[in-house]
Amino acid sequence: MSYIYYDHAATTPMHEDVIRAYVEAASAGPGNASSLHAQGRAARGRITAARDTLARYLCCDASELVFTSGGTESDNAALFGAALAQRSNGRIGIVTSAVEHHAVLHACKQLEKQGFKLTVLPVDDNGRVSVAEAEAAIDDTTAVVSIMAGNNETGTIQPIAAIGEWARKHKAIMHVDAVQAFGYASLELRELPIDLLSLSAHKINGPQGVGLLYARKGTSFQPLLYGGSQERKRRAGTENVAGIAAFAKAAELAVSDRELRSRHAETMRETFLTRLGDLIGSESFVVNGEGAERLPHIANVSFLGIRSENMLMNLDLAGVSASGGSACTSGSLLPSHVLQAMGLPQERVASAVRFSFGLGNNSEEAEKAAQITATIWARLRN
Ligand SMILES: Cc1ncc(COP(=O)(O)O)c(C=O)c1O
Repeated sequence: MSYIYYDHAATTPMHEDVIRAYVEAASAGPGNASSLHAQGRAARGRITAARDTLARYLCCDASELVFTSGGTESDNAALFGAALAQRSNGRIGIVTSAVEHHAVLHACKQLEKQGFKLTVLPVDDNGRVSVAEAEAAIDDTTAVVSIMAGNNETGTIQPIAAIGEWARKHKAIMHVDAVQAFGYASLELRELPIDLLSLSAHKINGPQGVGLLYARKGTSFQPLLYGGSQERKRRAGTENVAGIAAFAKAAELAVSDRELRSRHAETMRETFLTRLGDLIGSESFVVNGEGAERLPHIANVSFLGIRSENMLMNLDLAGVSASGGSACTSGSLLPSHVLQAMGLPQERVASAVRFSFGLGNNSEEAEKAAQITATIWARLRN
């Protein structure tokens, strides 16, 4: 069976140029970037080149970039790194939002257990944080503010620049999880009031298991991992040379083709939703978060009266890969904390399916997927 992959927010297919970059680096022979011999120096050269490329596309200094194992590690390193460093300045406040990825929320809860004072900002029914509420929560005791650029379940874009300005006024460290937004939103770090930023390669057609933490020069930060002196002592451990080389290639493609990439994802999303509306009537489903500015590649759809696991199982059997909220949430079949925080009625939370679009999708597929979804909808409704 041929599959229609509509789960790009969970992970993306690797771009063929990225695979080429990975294979080239992986087949270049052994080389630990910390070794002094020629092969070690070659590995180091690949990492340096990748870091320079990423710094160019993020508009920051190469020395401000720390390679990690992915978005989860970057989020944890940012939160623990900044909060623990700020505690010695007498700052114990952490401000985040109710719709953050669990990599942020669970790290914040852990910090709360260690004595930090946690404020979780609510969101409106489109999943958006209010700037006024963020401003009221941030003061001179705030250590870290962590607000995502774009949500992984609904695509809702947050006002990170306005919140970052306020955080800066109070000398709080501003962290942004841009794992879903990278490659769709403009992230010119020199221009943005952001101190720490998390990225992950596998969301932009790069390999799994590689990520990046941007740490603005001068930001108070304690490492999460101790050991060797890799990454200027900010992240110990032998670097994933091939993964890093491939990540840089993926970032180059994602940023230089950003507008095209965004337009493609949005066209796929709108073609699918429009066709679905033609087939089952637009009153038969709700697109959650539709009233806010959103990332172009995500559609969170509630099929009223149909449980999400039933829809997902039938879609899977028919060859359409979608998901129910974030991947880990759907694995454990818990209702989405994001949709709950948006205050949606239980019926909408229990019937939500996330379709996410990207590389490799085309209009014929969108038509076919809409027809498959409509057929399943008609069957389940009866
Ligand atoms: C917004 C967001 N943050 C963090 C992560 C975690 O990234 P990784 O899978 O690279 O650990 C994800 C992954 O789904 C995400 O969507």
